[in-house]
Amino acid sequence: MISDKIVEALNKQLNRELYSAYLYLAMASWFDSRNLKGFAHWMKVQAREEVEHAMKFYEYINDRGGRVVLEDIKAVQIEWKSVTEVFEYALEHERNVTRYIHELFNLARSEGDRATEVFLHWFINEQVEEEKTFSEILQILKYAGETPQIVLILDRQLAERK
Ligand SMILES: [Fe+2]
Ligand SMILES: [Fe+2]
Repeated sequence: MISDKIVEALNKQLNRELYSAYLYLAMASWFDSRNLKGFAHWMKVQAREEVEHAMKFYEYINDRGGRVVLEDIKAVQIEWKSVTEVFEYALEHERNVTRYIHELFNLARSEGDRATEVFLHWFINEQVEEEKTFSEILQILKYAGETPQIVLILDRQLAERK
């Protein structure tokens, strides 16, 4: 049996994954409104991945006999001053998500819930990837400076994301 405490914590994380999707969709919209279609596309793919993360929690809660409870999704920030600021914000967000996943893992450990620990391994690895991806783009923007040329080169590159 899965404990109520773990189910509640998993549901909270499911909500945060949907919040992430909402945030990246807001970023896609920010880019679309500036006609940066490559960046917008990249953020839409990112938003879709976050919905997939939420669904992993959904299925896992059900598999363990828990009940999925969908709460309100908080409104997200919708304005940023620059492309660099968007990626700084996103990286900071992913770092917070990593912290939440680690807290969830510690809770599973303290509750002796080994199945949940194993389930969370995938997310622990995924967060390493997430932080890496965002910080790589951010590093290019910072290294080269946010010139129109760099933004357009990146826009073309990011359009390729599958
Ligand atoms: Fe996620
Ligand atoms: Fe993420």
